[in-house]
Amino acid sequence: MPLTAIVREVSSSINDCELSFHARKPIDVARAIAQHKAYRDCLAELGVRIISLPAEPGLPDAVFVEDPAVVVDEIAIISNMGAPSRRPEASSLAKVLSRYRPLRFLAEPATLDGGDVLRIGRSVFVGLSRRTNRDGIEQLRDLLKPYDYLVRSVDVSGCLHLKSASSYIGNDTVLVNRSWIDAEQFHGFELLDVPGEEPAAANALLVNDVVIIPASFPKTRSLLKKRGFCVQMIDVSELQKAEAGVTCTSLILKGNGGIE
Ligand code: GLY
Repeated sequence: MPLTAIVREVSSSINDCELSFHARKPIDVARAIAQHKAYRDCLAELGVRIISLPAEPGLPDAVFVEDPAVVVDEIAIISNMGAPSRRPEASSLAKVLSRYRPLRFLAEPATLDGGDVLRIGRSVFVGLSRRTNRDGIEQLRDLLKPYDYLVRSVDVSGCLHLKSASSYIGNDTVLVNRSWIDAEQFHGFELLDVPGEEPAAANALLVNDVVIIPASFPKTRSLLKKRGFCVQMIDVSELQKAEAGVTCTSLILKGNGGIE
């Protein structure tokens, strides 16, 4: 099945991004733009079709396109993000997504960030976090029920999103930092713990059979390689200062995006 990634270029205002757990450090915008280009190139080299949206200069976090929507094979759900400053990111993304999926919408009092949603087959794990509340999880559950997805809530503490602390990496395995989430809900999957020195390394992006992780996590790379995973590292150091990982800068859809 071909894959399509929707991405959005880095905002010149990224230094004003939301931060929940990280101390603010200056972001070199030119370097962030170059790293984001390398990220797009990496996905393209792995055979992913890229739909690149222009930057939103007035929306500092708009490069993190994973958060305003949840896309499954049947529908795209436009969210009401947990950080009010980020909510205006959704409208332009919804416009693009409407070309590929029927849209559904979460409504107040629901809040939910796509970074809190980890789908593995028909199971949808949703982080109950600072950004995603119980109403967000309930509304998502109701919208996905007709398509036979089972939504399970996972408590998140100590990090921004569920996917800051857990990622599906293939072979029935979840890469995880159990000190930030209640991993109980992943019963039935093999849990692979990130090395203690690299607590943020559990955010990984699986593209076909390749597990993409940030270049700053060499111990995690060794662990994954030892377990037989094919690993690709990518330098996202400037985006990490905005509390990003490798999943949040793309919204990946199964299919070719309707482009022949
Ligand atoms: N800076 C990413 C976020 O807080 O949503």
